[in-house]
Amino acid sequence: MSEGPTSNNITRSEGLIDTRARNLRFGHGSCTVWFTGLSGSGKSTLALALEAELHSREVGSYVLYGDNIRFGLNSDLGFSPSERTENIRRVGEVARLFCDAGLVVLTAFISPYLRDRELVRNLHAPSTFIEVYLNTPLEECERRDEKGLYRKARNGEIKEFTGISAPYEPPVNPELVVDTRRPLEECVNELLAMLASHGAI
Ligand code: ADX
Repeated sequence: MSEGPTSNNITRSEGLIDTRARNLRFGHGSCTVWFTGLSGSGKSTLALALEAELHSREVGSYVLYGDNIRFGLNSDLGFSPSERTENIRRVGEVARLFCDAGLVVLTAFISPYLRDRELVRNLHAPSTFIEVYLNTPLEECERRDEKGLYRKARNGEIKEFTGISAPYEPPVNPELVVDTRRPLEECVNELLAMLASHGAI
């Protein structure tokens, strides 16, 4: 929605403790791993499995994901293009704050628009935004149809459903493309290697 603050007479201020100090305290770096892909592509499954692995390695992490955020912070938003944009903008801001707080943040949102993802990338410090594209084909997501939503979308019971009656713009240059038809453990290991190569863990 807005490109800058609506308020006047506001001033940015720095705290005494910065991200680097928190990273040193916690013993690991922080970043946002941004999963994007169709509904049912495996974003949440992968994010939750990665979080469990990070937790066992004593890496502070947190998953922000689609439906849950829409019950709370974004309960006022639906699925029109502008509402999806606002959904992603808010989540991006939250991810950036959690990153600053020293966590490895994992987000699982369809985030169908290239421009919205680029805006979130630009909120982050260089190399602390890792875009991960789950390229699970529509046919596979529809075959899984874990929530029965594709069937409803095909019947016209849900309007503007991503992949059916609303667009999905795949990333042009993501940090990683994950084929979720492979075993989950393999995908998690690939993500761990990616986090290590970014100096986050
Ligand atoms: S996004 O497009 O704004 O990024 P988000 O990830 O928050 O979407 O929410 C997607 C989830 O909402 C889907 O996994 C699905 O469970 C549910 N959903 C309900 N209606 C729609 C719709 N019209 N399009 C896509 N997902 C929908």
